[in-house]
Amino acid sequence: MFRIGLFVCVAFSVVAFATSLPSPAAAQIQKVVGGTPPAPAPIQREVTFAARPDGYSGSLVIPLGAERDLASRAQPLSRQDRDAIARALSSARFSYGARQTLSLRGIGSWDRILIVGLGEGTDLNTVQSVGSVAGRALLNEPGNVTVLASGLYAIAVGEFATGMGLGEYRSDLYQASRRAATAPGPTLIVSGVSDAARALYRGRGRALIDAMAWTRDVSNEPGNVIYPESFVDRARAAFAGIPGVTIDVLDVPAMQQLGMGAILGSGAGSVRPPRILVVRYTAPSAPAGGPIVLAGKGITFDTGGISIKPGANMGNMKMDMSGAAAVVGAVLALSKSGAPVNVAAIAALSENMPDGGAIRPADVLIAMNGKSIEIISTDAEGRLVLADAVAWADAKLQPAAIIDVATLTGAVGTALGEDYAGLFSRHDALASQIDAAGRATGEAVWRLPLHHAYAGRTSSTIADIKNSSDSGPGAGTGAHFIGEFVNRETPWAHIDIAGVAWSGPTDQMPAGSNGWGVRLLEKLVLDWKPVPRGVGDGGQ
Ligand code: BES
Ligand code: MN
Ligand code: ZN
Repeated sequence: MFRIGLFVCVAFSVVAFATSLPSPAAAQIQKVVGGTPPAPAPIQREVTFAARPDGYSGSLVIPLGAERDLASRAQPLSRQDRDAIARALSSARFSYGARQTLSLRGIGSWDRILIVGLGEGTDLNTVQSVGSVAGRALLNEPGNVTVLASGLYAIAVGEFATGMGLGEYRSDLYQASRRAATAPGPTLIVSGVSDAARALYRGRGRALIDAMAWTRDVSNEPGNVIYPESFVDRARAAFAGIPGVTIDVLDVPAMQQLGMGAILGSGAGSVRPPRILVVRYTAPSAPAGGPIVLAGKGITFDTGGISIKPGANMGNMKMDMSGAAAVVGAVLALSKSGAPVNVAAIAALSENMPDGGAIRPADVLIAMNGKSIEIISTDAEGRLVLADAVAWADAKLQPAAIIDVATLTGAVGTALGEDYAGLFSRHDALASQIDAAGRATGEAVWRLPLHHAYAGRTSSTIADIKNSSDSGPGAGTGAHFIGEFVNRETPWAHIDIAGVAWSGPTDQMPAGSNGWGVRLLEKLVLDWKPVPRGVGDGGQ
């Protein structure tokens, strides 16, 4: 019975294959992709700002940096509620430290009162993180939320509200509870400077929340949902109607015409063809000159290819497009907020799969800039897609600088753990701006060397360069490889985010993609100071 059933099934699919579909590749795409679930809708609280509360029920949030703050913050509450909160704070010995929480029930008519510690003399990045703790703590409270923020500067209020929105992010894209969820109640932020706080939130914070959610979603999506073409579709949908944005996509024929043998080779073993997505945003008020180019590694799934990875945790490689998601997210945040900048995101999209068309070790590929590459490992594929992406940007866009972002090497995680991304650059002035943006946003980078000896480590006996070396500083040789596809005069930096791009769960975010890079790159572009062209010799 079983054998006959199997035979019929196979025979049927062979017939269907032969008669009804235009090409073997198309047949396989249908077979693999059919029934792709739609993108789940985001679930977020609507946020408004006012000078007074509009009710005394639901959840109440009170950010406090010290005991004395309660007087100004809780001024809109009744005397009894204020006294009850003060007693609870002292009997719990609340420390007021940043991100400490105390959850109270049974006071007044509130369902819940959440005290969150601001810490002393805190910077804006810390205030944002405290907001995220509050947003995440209230994730399962269906009702409305009132935040008492009186006495805080408008910029801190805006940052707190932004943090709350970031903390409301959910990664449970396909769980039944998420699908059944209705939007939770709104958030009202009470502030004496509510107009200014609202302007900051609407001008920048809300765009950042939306962009970070986009980046995290795309990274968290599995490889059967996000592949090069569907990544492009998601990006098009996100940017629809935003002024100043133009989108270009290089497909396989366009890449063939340009001689992009490196990215084409990386995708040769997949039925999902590679793409290069270019999202440009130029504000009318942007300074003259070429764009700041942000190029991202967009491997939508990295099996390793013929140099296949071991099975354990291979599923994490659905996030191997986190660099591409971050650069697109940063431009989404900047364009949605109408920032006065000129920036381009380039997503180098490909799926690294092993099949009969796949590249193999010892193959030689020719990149767009004419350099020949000997493949040592098909698992060193991120540098292949970036080689053509940065060479294209350098040749076509007259970039003010090129910054590439990539989950490039496991080695960077060994060196720096989850605390810092690895930064590599030949241009000190660019490296220090990236470092400053990292410190300001909490997305910290640590600079690692580009020693000239890495040229020897990547020299090939048959081609101009090889794509991996047997041992040694793997993050550095990966960075060096990408740098060989950028003109030495062009300010260029490489950020290896393989150790930081996913994390959790924490008190601020669920397990999965954390959107690493969106905040750093947004800040970098907003605060941009021109970097002189010229042969860089930093980082040696
Ligand atoms: N996508 C991986 C790097 C990675 C590893 C990201 C762990 C996140 C977590 C990359 O394509 C890769 O496979 N790198 C190799 C490079 C080697 C073959 C030169 C690695 O790190 O082992
Ligand atoms: Mn790989
Ligand atoms: Zn990879």
